[in-house]
Amino acid sequence: MNGEIESLVDTLSDSIARKGFETEMQSFVQMFSRYQSDKARGITLDWDKIRPAPAEQTVSYASLFREADSKNLKKLAVLKVNGGLGTSMGMKGAKSALEVKNGLTFLDLTVQQVQHLNTRMSIDVPLILMTSFKTYTETVEVIKKYANQPLRILTFNQSRYPRVFEDTMLPCPKTAEDDNRAWYPPGHGDLYASLFRSGVLDQLLSDGKEYLFVSNSDNLGAVVDPKILQHMIESESEFLMEVTNKTKGDLKGGTLVDYDGSLRLLELGQVPLKNVDDFKSIFNFRILNTNNLWINLKALKRVLDKEGLDLDIIEKHRYLDHGKPVIQLETAAGSAIKHFKKAHGVIVPRRRFLPVKNCADLLLVKSDIYKIENGHLIPNDHRPFQTTPTIKLSDDFKSIEQFQARFKTIPSIAELDHLTITGDVHFGRACELRGTVIVAATEGQRIDIPDGSVLENRLLAGYLNT
Ligand code: UTP
Repeated sequence: MNGEIESLVDTLSDSIARKGFETEMQSFVQMFSRYQSDKARGITLDWDKIRPAPAEQTVSYASLFREADSKNLKKLAVLKVNGGLGTSMGMKGAKSALEVKNGLTFLDLTVQQVQHLNTRMSIDVPLILMTSFKTYTETVEVIKKYANQPLRILTFNQSRYPRVFEDTMLPCPKTAEDDNRAWYPPGHGDLYASLFRSGVLDQLLSDGKEYLFVSNSDNLGAVVDPKILQHMIESESEFLMEVTNKTKGDLKGGTLVDYDGSLRLLELGQVPLKNVDDFKSIFNFRILNTNNLWINLKALKRVLDKEGLDLDIIEKHRYLDHGKPVIQLETAAGSAIKHFKKAHGVIVPRRRFLPVKNCADLLLVKSDIYKIENGHLIPNDHRPFQTTPTIKLSDDFKSIEQFQARFKTIPSIAELDHLTITGDVHFGRACELRGTVIVAATEGQRIDIPDGSVLENRLLAGYLNT
């Protein structure tokens, strides 16, 4: 592999670009060597050493009372991991640049959240966006309008690693500038190395920032919570992971476990095939990693300088366009937990975890189930129930293009319990769905729901043209 990577570096003639690329490729080679040596030595996860996180390693959010004051909030920075490919929604750019409501994207709403905090507490918490070669352009396009506003927005790009052919174990790209599909952003765990390499970590520390609140850019529930920050300070914890109680919809999500006496993040991608059902069982592992993480920046600098972060490598399998199988090695941000002192989990209410993994999740956040106040998604008062509706959309709504083409506007779902849509179904403007609604178009047929339709406890099947 070393020879191939050196040849890749040689394809760049510009000395500055070459230097950065070389450093990035060295990190890739290190990760790849670690992966290969673990594989050769047969180092895999020993399932028998895994236990659910012990109760004393988590605290309940409900038990936190004191809030951090402005003196401590001033030491905070907020970071959104925003470099992912959004493959489950067929994205070509940043998921966070999608509109949620009133022309405002996830990024705009995040900006509003931080601006609101800063104004309310008279502080200057900066917003940091980690982008990737896939999301940089769209991200910058959304945030450029905030250039002259008081909120400081910093961006840095995460690494770009080469995918590797599964049969030959050789890198897919032939040159540094080869087709984008030959490369990938190596997971949100890359945030630590990229934060360090970009100089942003040192800049934050020299600005007097001590704590970093990290979350996914599509999670509008991840707002700064002064109670959690205060708890971090009082408990002298260097790393907190917000976890929440699992529901049926979360079976594939990562969980916090005790592994041979140390606290670890366990992701599905690390689980041996024969233990996947045990991993998914809600009876075995009740809590879910929200990827809302609170990190002590001085401790992070210490770990990076002295020990180095040894994040668990997750092997992912993908196919290039012509069907050739490739692998990509990724890491998860939460897996850094094992390196930090007094690290533990905080069991938070679900409202702090509203990720958008698919178009059904997107429909929910765009709908009138929520209203927006200062960038926060707030459950709408006119919904008569506490719970959110269950929404099931067939693969005809899988990609964002399909979703956008099938809804002229988002129907009102304030009184909806359950929605299933399968097949080629199109919704007109200003529709309303109540109770249980099932719309199933026969294969090869199309159902058009006319503008202004109200469907209450209805089953529509077959085809319907207007
Ligand atoms: P996920 O790993 O859940 O992936 O990212 P995703 O990009 O949202 O969607 P899929 O799985 O490809 O469909 C969780 C968060 O981590 C960020 C994403 O942008 C998202 O905010 N992320 C993910 C990164 O910043 N970099 C990465 O390399 C991967």
